[in-house]
Amino acid sequence: MSKPDPRRPKSDRDVLDDLGNLIGESVKKGRAKLEKLIEESRKHKKGGHDDDDFLGYLRAFLDDRNIAAVTPSSKFLVDRVIRAMNLPNAGVIVEYGAAQGVMTRRILEKMRPDAKLIAIEFNRRLFDELIERVRDPRMIAEHGDVREVDQILARHGIHKADTIISGVPFAFFSGRGRHELLHKTSELLNPGGRFVPYQVTTHLIPMLKDYFSDVDIQFEVRNMPPHFVFTALK
Ligand SMILES: C[S@@+](CC[C@H](N)C(=O)[O-])C[C@H]1O[C@@H](n2cnc3c(N)ncnc32)[C@H](O)[C@@H]1O
Repeated sequence: MSKPDPRRPKSDRDVLDDLGNLIGESVKKGRAKLEKLIEESRKHKKGGHDDDDFLGYLRAFLDDRNIAAVTPSSKFLVDRVIRAMNLPNAGVIVEYGAAQGVMTRRILEKMRPDAKLIAIEFNRRLFDELIERVRDPRMIAEHGDVREVDQILARHGIHKADTIISGVPFAFFSGRGRHELLHKTSELLNPGGRFVPYQVTTHLIPMLKDYFSDVDIQFEVRNMPPHFVFTALK
């Protein structure tokens, strides 16, 4: 990727991208303090799914840069993504980067009884939490890399999907890796299907336009860090 021209004035999008990156970096720098806080919270914890979700996720985030967001998605971001997914029309749904299932649980609540959800997660700890906490016969959970999504789906006899959502940080893939995954994603979608990535930065927009006919852009500020939600139509 070419370096930004320092003489070019910053756009609103650049400022938001910088803010997202800054929040992530600051949290990583405060790692020691956070580790201590997590331990203390565990000792005094009253129990409850939400606390467990948050602490487990935060610990995994500290160990694995691919997790990208500091906390699981907020209910505001989850609901915004769910609205974009058009679940009443989706028979086959794929989730890239399910973590321990904050988005997954809500999809299962809202999707049709006859629909199928394939949830893919790379981080072992988060994947183990996912399969322990989220049990639903309509879900297939896979520990794997979304860059192999075509092979993962084929193992289950699935070759097409109606809706694919993604929390995986595309910014961490190589330029070629991003294009390959977008190409695979577009190929896997049925005509009229949609891809809904939620991301901290706007870098994906021009690439989405290469592979999809229409791209809607929304911004959810009530999340840590704030996220863009893109709806790309095949
Ligand atoms: C920003 S988090 C989103 C988690 C969750 N879906 C949510 O909304 O809270 C991104 C997730 O993608 C996973 N991930 C990153 N790269 C991946 C890859 N190549 N394949 C599968 N999962 C990946 C990370 O481990 C992490 O759980």
